[in-house]
Amino acid sequence: MEIFRTVQDMQNFATAAIRAGKKVALVPTMGFLHEGHLSLIDIAREHADLVVVSIFVNPTQFAPNEDLDKYPRDFQRDKDLCELRGAAAIFAPEASEMYAENQTTWVYEEKLSTKLCGKSRPIHFRGVCTVVSKLFNIVRPDVAVFGQKDAQQALIIRRMVRDLNFPIEIIVAPLVRDKNNLALSSRNKYLDENQQKDALVLSRSIFAAKEAILSVGIGEIPSICEVVKTEIAKFHGIVDYVECLDSETLEEPTEATKELLLAVAAKFGTTRLIDNILINLE
Ligand code: PAJ
Repeated sequence: MEIFRTVQDMQNFATAAIRAGKKVALVPTMGFLHEGHLSLIDIAREHADLVVVSIFVNPTQFAPNEDLDKYPRDFQRDKDLCELRGAAAIFAPEASEMYAENQTTWVYEEKLSTKLCGKSRPIHFRGVCTVVSKLFNIVRPDVAVFGQKDAQQALIIRRMVRDLNFPIEIIVAPLVRDKNNLALSSRNKYLDENQQKDALVLSRSIFAAKEAILSVGIGEIPSICEVVKTEIAKFHGIVDYVECLDSETLEEPTEATKELLLAVAAKFGTTRLIDNILINLE
């Protein structure tokens, strides 16, 4: 497995792969890999000859008050896991390699990015779209794999790829949970033992809400979301949002809605967690 630290070396690998007629898949990550990330590598391998995993804690998607500096890192462990799962290369640049000090060009999706997490993290998706565009130009993949864990991010990337004509197929992989149904996240490392137990309320309450919506209908969504909020608060979660929207448009559901996205974000202590579930109405 190759490890590239510079844009030039990564681009040379990409050019050679294209010349050799190899299909390349990219799995963008911020590292501290867990089974959720690794499942994306498995799926990527099914769709390509070579899988490139990027490991880059992208500063432009963190606001000044967020956890950029303490975001967990363990490159040696990540490297071993990527190798075990059959990645061909890791791209792990420093921030100074990715961003010129005076970078003034940004990629900004202006509609979906204002919903859900975009309300409390106004610059977040601009950072994500910009870094993912840069990674697409550096790795030049045929396919890129994202996780349903970050449902809004996956929708925004799909929209960006459509709007800017990136010749890249986007695959969205299922959300991976631990045995207690906690959605796997690098940030789970921040949780103490009590918070880990409390945080199980997220999946428990959205699973229950899904059943409730399916049995009583979409008219009751507002009151069901309120119940979820109350449940989360009971377990010391500070709710950012609980919303149930059309899974394609992130607008309020209508009679035409085929699928709902029930999404939550809440803080346990200082750790912000997100979770979501899809609800098929057809
Ligand atoms: P990160 O949080 O490291 O996640 C990298 C990828 O792994 C994302 O596509 C995310 O949705 C997926 N993922 C994380 N946890 C998952 C889980 N439990 N099940 C399935 N997939 C999961 O998302 C980012 O990094 C960044 O925003 C990035 C796209 C790399 C841009 O900087």
